[in-house]
Amino acid sequence: MKVLVTGGAGYIGSHACKALSKTGHTPITFDNLSTGWRDAVQFGPFFEGDLTDKSSIERAFAEHRPDAVLHFAALSRVDEAMAKPELYWRNNVLGSLNLFEAAVQHDCLDLVFSSTCATFGDQDNVILDENTPQHPINAYGASKQAVERMLQDFEATHGLRNVIFRYFNVAGADPDAEVGEFHRPETHLIPIVLDTVAGERDQVTIYGTDYPTPDGTCVRDYVHVSDLVDAHLLGLQWLKDGKGSRAFNLGTGSGFSVREVIHSANRVTNREVPTAIGDRRPGDAIKLVSGSKRAEDELKWTPQKSTMPQMIEDAWRWHQVADYRK
Ligand code: UFG
Repeated sequence: MKVLVTGGAGYIGSHACKALSKTGHTPITFDNLSTGWRDAVQFGPFFEGDLTDKSSIERAFAEHRPDAVLHFAALSRVDEAMAKPELYWRNNVLGSLNLFEAAVQHDCLDLVFSSTCATFGDQDNVILDENTPQHPINAYGASKQAVERMLQDFEATHGLRNVIFRYFNVAGADPDAEVGEFHRPETHLIPIVLDTVAGERDQVTIYGTDYPTPDGTCVRDYVHVSDLVDAHLLGLQWLKDGKGSRAFNLGTGSGFSVREVIHSANRVTNREVPTAIGDRRPGDAIKLVSGSKRAEDELKWTPQKSTMPQMIEDAWRWHQVADYRK
């Protein structure tokens, strides 16, 4: 199968391209390189384009004639979404609209969409499953929820079949260290901790220690990028098997606090990361933990690598050898 991978030069997209090529498919990366890396495109053709420019995505469909789409391309920083919501509505919502219109026009009617636990907002002490009402608290979550809604209409009217994955916190790297997580600026906890271990930063600032959690820091559900990508292959198969549109949450059901993540990184890397205590970061939810039973039961998805030490170990290995970080 030829699979158009929007955001294929990014963290998760590049891992998906590798998995597609390893399983005999051809990933076609469509990326504007605003947050992705040309060097991460190693597993198939590259089309440089921007989803907000409708003509470029139309050209990509016409040139490559894909059989399915994995739609990763998006802006995904909560802090940025709080400061510049317009960027999120334009990139994530208008970009998706252009993509869906082009897909329908080219009769490419199977699509997997990367949504987020940020669509649920801040629901204290709730395990978030697919029946939990979505109440996003920032423009990032709201933009992704809007695209989920858009997909319902595109399916009902134009037959665009879709699998929606709501990711929890994605972590780790390709176990062969060919691709990994790298953002500039970096805002995510684990890469920041590893930058600090490597001496590229002086310390890790913990954003808030007065949350109503056991150790006062925010709790997240971390899932290994390889496990996440496995779910995407299962999602494509689900669509090709004609099982219809469905939304799945992807996490492990276990929560880790910021302090627990740092502690685990200390153990894996055998160093002591210096920390400082800072204010709460605007837009952060207290606790986001997934109920992923639907993905396990229906998709037969079983996370294999999503333990905290394994995720940190793989991220750390990549951190030390990655070419395009340098
Ligand atoms: N954190 C720190 N210090 C840092 C960086 C992060 O204390 O230097 C904390 C955050 O406050 C948060 C936790 O570590 O409590 C995890 O933060 P990340 O930035 O790694 O991840 P987020 O939970 O903010 O973001 C993830 C995804 C987003 C998604 C969001 C949903 O990366 O795309 O979950 O809330 F929107």
